[in-house]
Amino acid sequence: MKIEGNQLSYSTSDNKSNFHYKIHFVFSGEDKNIQLKKFQEQWKAGIFKADIGQIFTDEANKTILVGLGKADKLLIRKISACFIKLGNKLSKLDGVGYHIYLRKELTTQLSAEKLAYQIVSGLEIGYYSLNVLATKDKSKKKAGSITFTTEDSIAENAVKAGINKGKSVARHINGARYIAHLPANHFTPEGFVKRSKEIAKENKLKITVFDEPQLQKLGMNGILSVCEGSDKKAKMIMLDYAPPGATKTLAIIGKGLTFDSGGISIKPAGDMHEMKYDMCGAAATIHAIGAIASLKTKIRVVAAIGAAENMPDAKAIKPGDVYTAYNGLTVEVQNTDAEGRLVLGDVLSYVSEKIKPDYMVDLATLTGAVIIALGHEAAAVMSNNSDLVDTIKKASLESDDRVWEFPLWDEYGEDLKSDIADLKNIAGGRGAGSITAAMYLKNFVGENIPWAHIDIAGTAWRKKASGTQSNGPTGYGVRLLVELAEELSKS
Ligand code: BES
Ligand code: ZN
Ligand code: ZN
Repeated sequence: MKIEGNQLSYSTSDNKSNFHYKIHFVFSGEDKNIQLKKFQEQWKAGIFKADIGQIFTDEANKTILVGLGKADKLLIRKISACFIKLGNKLSKLDGVGYHIYLRKELTTQLSAEKLAYQIVSGLEIGYYSLNVLATKDKSKKKAGSITFTTEDSIAENAVKAGINKGKSVARHINGARYIAHLPANHFTPEGFVKRSKEIAKENKLKITVFDEPQLQKLGMNGILSVCEGSDKKAKMIMLDYAPPGATKTLAIIGKGLTFDSGGISIKPAGDMHEMKYDMCGAAATIHAIGAIASLKTKIRVVAAIGAAENMPDAKAIKPGDVYTAYNGLTVEVQNTDAEGRLVLGDVLSYVSEKIKPDYMVDLATLTGAVIIALGHEAAAVMSNNSDLVDTIKKASLESDDRVWEFPLWDEYGEDLKSDIADLKNIAGGRGAGSITAAMYLKNFVGENIPWAHIDIAGTAWRKKASGTQSNGPTGYGVRLLVELAEELSKS
């Protein structure tokens, strides 16, 4: 599976000849630490205060100090972002070895395994370069290597387990970022077929690809209508990971618009190029199942994505047109730019009917409104089941993928009634755009299936770096679904 870019290598044996830099993780207020005595001047001058994410490189002593903030506030979210920043820093140094010593103070809030997982996944995300199609200025650096050593009281096996999880998950996060970064002329619905096949092969997953003739036969007119104006062919792809002994099934569903021009309800030109990212939900979905399978989590996971391209053309669906969805509902398409819900509607009802999952979660860059509400720091989660939301919130705390809950009260659905059909695809009006989109989707979820919709339009990519986060596609959702699958496998 191609993901491009440099990767780091890891070992837990103390190979002193192999490293050039020592990396120290430091809590604020630790200026009395004898090991760090050499840096008293920096402490005194206030150059290094060990604030979270603060990195201080001392070339003379070949030492990198990384601030972790207050010891009792070691939150996964914050340290993850901090290691992403460190990884980014290391990517700018030329192919060297680094030594990380894990002392026991680092593991008072987090287990050694979780800490190693956060360090490795963060480093990998930050180390990964995103200029995938550049031919000039491409780094030809050797890949760096990291050596972990641990204080005696920390079990090496726990650290090894954390490293392995970090490598597997980060590989899939970077995999999702790689395809997200590819523009629409390089990555089409057919690209999703190729990528999904690679993931299936690597992890021995069952894969089913639905081409247009099959979608027509099934009556998946939501997916088909959206792709009508494009010369690309719509696809639905299903991957199935069924480990022996698993008792529950989690279905994960992704929106895979490899480009969303808005169709006849065309978008303004300004940021339209960003709509190559409208496939980030599907990218995270297929890569999450890859990561979950490689970790051998004991739960059946079915991943299903709808892949299409939304373009204006003589054949394109027009505002006012009515189609019949897979579940039989008739839909008046008042705005062809509200296309993600048409694609997801068919996939949600197909999976509800054929798989009958115990839990169903979809990821979609569905509405600009979620960016107005939450910016780029959290995705909105909306659900018909409070237990599932609680588990998602728990998974969110275990990863750097933050969620915030919005309500799905019935009243929000009132404006989705159409004069001519069962439903219209926009509520009109200005308020609660993310919620009305979710209310639309709710019509396509099988009865009694615990379902959550996660609107990732704000978190899937970022224009600007901020805090400790870098710009570009984030791979949001991969870590969240990995933790969610792990949580649900315990129930
Ligand atoms: N893909 C967009 C949502 C989007 C917009 C994601 C901006 C990221 C940044 C989606 O298909 C869309 O266009 N939604 C419309 C819905 C509206 C017409 C009801 C929107 O959000 O404007
Ligand atoms: Zn759209
Ligand atoms: Zn879209």
